[in-house]
Amino acid sequence: MKRTTLSRFLIEQQRTAGVLPGELRLLVEIVARACKAISHSVGRGALGGVLGSLDSENVQGEVQKRLDVIANEMLLDANEWGGHLAAMASEEMETIHLIPNRFPKGEYLLLFDPIDGSSNIDVGLSVGTIFSVLHAPTESATREVVEADFLQHGHTQVAAGYAIYGPQTLLVLTVGTGVFEFTLDREVGSWVMSDANITMPAGKREFAINMSNQRHWSPSMAAYVEACIAGASGPAGHDYNMRWTGSMVADVHRILKRGGVFLYPADSRTGQGKLRLMYEANPMAFLIEQAGGAATDGSERLLDIAPDALHQRVGVVLGDRGEVERVRELARMHR
Ligand code: AHG
Ligand code: MN
Ligand code: MN
Ligand code: MN
Repeated sequence: MKRTTLSRFLIEQQRTAGVLPGELRLLVEIVARACKAISHSVGRGALGGVLGSLDSENVQGEVQKRLDVIANEMLLDANEWGGHLAAMASEEMETIHLIPNRFPKGEYLLLFDPIDGSSNIDVGLSVGTIFSVLHAPTESATREVVEADFLQHGHTQVAAGYAIYGPQTLLVLTVGTGVFEFTLDREVGSWVMSDANITMPAGKREFAINMSNQRHWSPSMAAYVEACIAGASGPAGHDYNMRWTGSMVADVHRILKRGGVFLYPADSRTGQGKLRLMYEANPMAFLIEQAGGAATDGSERLLDIAPDALHQRVGVVLGDRGEVERVRELARMHR
């Protein structure tokens, strides 16, 4: 693959595909630059004093890791002066973050999960950053942005992506014209394209779920997983492998590159799932669908769900179309 950088890719998307207005190109460049800085921080680990937890809890009721807050600040600082955003929202902030009056405002809304997989930070496993871009309503040029402006269906996203801070630092991105992967060239500091128009391999018998939640699942979800474990002589007729990393970005990236299905179902504890619709499920669903996969809450297409709260949680079943459809079919049969 010829050495194409993120900047060149974005300019070509803007010029040829005409899908990338200048402000959106600037937005993606700035988010990618912030992810480079976050990668450096994550990589410093104990040497950078960035490990461990704070005494604070976020709106999710989770104890915040130092890096959750550091990465959140880095994304806010990188994005608030550029003039491309009307406001931002984050897993780590209860309310939306308005652009300070001293800076110009733009036409986009940026949502992010600054560090996904936080529980893995202190034990050296891959974590990442997830982001989603929406259009701000036109009237936001003349009035203050409010939380309701963010509550748009996932299919209105204009861009989505994630960075993974693992053996390599990768950026995976879609602007609606397919899925593209960039590897950080640490010597030069540029994002170099390492995969283009990614198509998720179909038919891979590998499922990702946290089995310790089994007693909380719906009967149909329990039936689906039992069939996976029953192997070739069971109702699914195939042997399956299982993986669960505790970082959605790592599980989703594996599925994007080699196939399989990711499940974090709604369960009896809260009636919803654990994952957040606006800045985890929706951006990942956009990417997976762009790569030829499917993404539901177990029944309904994730990108068609009408959000009713910024931090709302949702069940997630995404990846291999055949597997997602089997889950949906079992849910229909168990109604
Ligand atoms: P976050 O670290 O941003 O709060 O997200 C963690 C999520 C997701 O990354 C992962 O798939 C899931 O939590 C793991 O949940 P369990 O620890 O319940 O398995
Ligand atoms: Mn969290
Ligand atoms: Mn997360
Ligand atoms: Mn997070």
